[in-house]
Amino acid sequence: MKIDILTLFPKMFDGFLTESIIKRAINAQKVTIEIHNFRDFSDDEHDSVDDTPYGGGAGMVLMPQPIFDCVESLRKENSKVILLTPSGVPYKQKKAYDLAKEEHLIIICGHYEGFDERITTLADMEISIGDYVLTGGEIPAMVLADSVIRLIPGVINEKSHIEDSFNENYLLDYPTYTRPSDFRGMKVPEVLLSGNHAEIAKWRYNESVKRTKERRPDLLK
Ligand code: ADE
Repeated sequence: MKIDILTLFPKMFDGFLTESIIKRAINAQKVTIEIHNFRDFSDDEHDSVDDTPYGGGAGMVLMPQPIFDCVESLRKENSKVILLTPSGVPYKQKKAYDLAKEEHLIIICGHYEGFDERITTLADMEISIGDYVLTGGEIPAMVLADSVIRLIPGVINEKSHIEDSFNENYLLDYPTYTRPSDFRGMKVPEVLLSGNHAEIAKWRYNESVKRTKERRPDLLK
């Protein structure tokens, strides 16, 4: 998979690309990620990327030209263009599975107070990572790329994401424990020490259901 990310703040991605599972996926050539500063595409003599909003109002608005030129230099037949905005469709694990099957993602990070509405005509989808407003689309781009890359076959042990919260059965994860079996008087549930795999599976399923009922009853609908 190839992922191109358009941003005004490329350095924000340094840690993301050079640590942990994403770094490993890049080294194993499961994914290629390129970060593009769309300021480099500005045809303005001052390299401007934003301007004041028509009709007045606070803040600056991203102009269409640099983003159009940048996307058009990258887009191919098989590309999916994603615009990150708090006004987008809420992001869910199901979408991560769908995106993990794509060959090429182009992710546009919005910034400042907003972007010129004509930029939305470039996008195949507008996505929000949640009902809160961040200073820009960079962290949402990392959230999206991370959730997709870990689903690319061979990036992590497949069994670990089959058992994830929000997989097909829409239950939250069950509680897990490791050594020691007694930490400051807090004991690991007996059943997990029993070696009885059928009982363990039953306990885990019941804990998942209980937790989902308590915390996310909306998922059980
Ligand atoms: N940009 C700012 N806030 C955002 C959000 N919640 N989701 C996607 N992009 C954003």
